[in-house]
Amino acid sequence: MDKIVIVGGKPLRGTVPVYGAKNAVLPIMAAALLASGKYEIDSVPDLRDVRTMAHLLRIIGAQVVQEDHKLTIDTQHCSFLEAPYELVKTMRASIYVLGPLLARFGRARVSLPGGCAWGPRPVDFHIKGMQKLGAEIDLDRGYIVARAKKLRGATITLDIPSVGATGNILMAATLAEGRTVIENAAREPEITALAEFLVQMGAQIEGIGTDRLVIDGVDELSPTNFQVIPDRIEAGTFLLAGAITGGEVTVTNVVPEHLRAVLTKLEDAGVELTEGEDWIRVRAPQRVKPVDVTTAVYPGFPTDMQAQWMALMSVADGSSVITDTIFLDRFTHVAELQRLGARIRMEGNSAHVTGVEKLQGAPVMSTDLRASACLILAGLAAEGRTDVSRVYHIDRGYERIEERLKPLGAEIWREEEPWPQAVTTDLSALSPEER
Ligand code: UD1
Repeated sequence: MDKIVIVGGKPLRGTVPVYGAKNAVLPIMAAALLASGKYEIDSVPDLRDVRTMAHLLRIIGAQVVQEDHKLTIDTQHCSFLEAPYELVKTMRASIYVLGPLLARFGRARVSLPGGCAWGPRPVDFHIKGMQKLGAEIDLDRGYIVARAKKLRGATITLDIPSVGATGNILMAATLAEGRTVIENAAREPEITALAEFLVQMGAQIEGIGTDRLVIDGVDELSPTNFQVIPDRIEAGTFLLAGAITGGEVTVTNVVPEHLRAVLTKLEDAGVELTEGEDWIRVRAPQRVKPVDVTTAVYPGFPTDMQAQWMALMSVADGSSVITDTIFLDRFTHVAELQRLGARIRMEGNSAHVTGVEKLQGAPVMSTDLRASACLILAGLAAEGRTDVSRVYHIDRGYERIEERLKPLGAEIWREEEPWPQAVTTDLSALSPEER
């Protein structure tokens, strides 16, 4: 297992390009199952989640080659219609193959994803959505077993504008008979990118970018080539790396509009912002002002930036409240930030943060993707050495993050983590109470 080591306290300065969006490329890869043939997808980040999705597509029978941020997918020989538990448990986004398999082959068997580090995350909207489209669904020993001779269009109103459920239903509806309307649909840029990919494949979709998607099913789609949008969460994380270290960082290959809520909060925190069509620069004061945030669906403040914002607020000049309304338990980073000296008190789904002048480096452990990003940011600001263990989480969503931060002046590297040594292995040497 690897860990990331940071010797913090240095202001970061320089320019860092942002790579393609993980949360856009994953559903797009699944959507390639909707039509037989060859696709070329550009600006694909080299991430663990992308490799997991590629592995899943290969199990289904597709040929997938990833080289130099380009992905070639050939879906001519797909025949195995199952997403096995071993893969789904490592990446919830595997559920995205449900809609495309059902729509193209009339059958799918997809493992239920189970919970995640911050509590249960149901997939009931995905299942109900497929049922509304006429699929028969059984739950069989941890698997969703779905069948439909031909999906039929329907009006589906989501209780919450779920990103995953919107994407899954949208993909399935492109090949359904008749019209599907998704009310209260997610409007995240990654869903817009997926819809645009589907339109390029020949799908008929109206209302892209709004909370009401109207899909008129077609008989057939065809493969296409596509360029993935930049990752707004990666961009936001790099901007916060500049802000938390009192530095000056420019991110390029970014769509500033996708980050508006984060940029507004950064300005409120006293960070100077400059932006162009595809770049953003932050110039940070020595210490930022405290700013409350409440996460919301797009265009609100993203839950995927909540942990990183908490790192920033941990060194702000005053107190702030951070509330997550999307995932109420997404706070595994709090205990680790406290190990670095952060003053945080939890009340339900709100964290009350009192900024300290300096965090102190310490060994910490990442528990999920964005918690890892939060701890790396905190480590960059902290005095002394911070070891962030279990960094396989960060590799799910950031391509070689240490190599991207190093040119900005960060003292950061990756090390293999030795397994903890047992103090004694000879149990017979211990008294019964000690055993
Ligand atoms: C996606 C993103 C994730 C981001 C999240 C919210 C991907 C691969 N992942 O996750 O990074 O944090 O959006 O922006 O794109 N819910 C249900 N039932 C369902 C589905 C969702 O109750 O069937 C609830 C969830 O528990 C959560 C809320 O709806 O409270 C939103 O979740 P959702 O938008 O579906 O998140 P994901 O698509 O899993």
